[in-house]
Amino acid sequence: MTQALAQWPTVADILAQVEGHLDEDEARLLYDQACGDVIEIGSFRGRSTCALAAGVKAHGGRVYAIDPHPDYVDGGGVGVFSHADAGHLLRNIVSMGLEDHVRIINLYSEQVAQVWRQPVDFVFVDGFHSEGAARHDVIQWGAHLKPGGRMAVHDRLMPQVARVIGEALADGWVEVAQVDNTVLMEKRA
Ligand SMILES: C[S@@+](CC[C@H](N)C(=O)[O-])C[C@H]1O[C@@H](n2cnc3c(N)ncnc32)[C@H](O)[C@@H]1O
Repeated sequence: MTQALAQWPTVADILAQVEGHLDEDEARLLYDQACGDVIEIGSFRGRSTCALAAGVKAHGGRVYAIDPHPDYVDGGGVGVFSHADAGHLLRNIVSMGLEDHVRIINLYSEQVAQVWRQPVDFVFVDGFHSEGAARHDVIQWGAHLKPGGRMAVHDRLMPQVARVIGEALADGWVEVAQVDNTVLMEKRA
């Protein structure tokens, strides 16, 4: 059954039904920040996707949800992932009536970043959690942000992700907020 999304906390209630890696305060951060052209790297089954899509539904814009859904076990202990997650993602987006606010891109973030041409307003990074992949996502997608655009990075407490965030903060990014395991940054330089 399609459920009509209203304002938070109705959205929070619905998000509680989607398996995922964000807590409610982090989902609320994404909902609040989502406006304009939004890139999501790492959708899994759609908890962050739906928080962002509910945000652009309320504020205007569109979410581009990038996830190739390969079969793998994340070595950092983040979880077990598979191609079956793509079906859950689609069903969750449609069951919440958010399909007009999301475009699913079933490719690796690095493939998409290479050919992306449109400046974006907000980026959420929660894809592959190796240091190299996280660094690539922050640098490559940071280059696609409009001046004053913001980026949220999940798993800030993982050492390799923390190192990448530290590098960004030493290189022109300013920390705006920390919400649980997520950092929100703005690129000033
Ligand atoms: C921790 S989960 C994302 C959790 C999700 N944001 C949520 O709210 O539940 C990580 C996801 O990143 C995806 N992923 C792995 N490597 C990727 C890459 N190179 N580009 C984009 N997504 C990737 C995986 O398929 C997996 O679904």
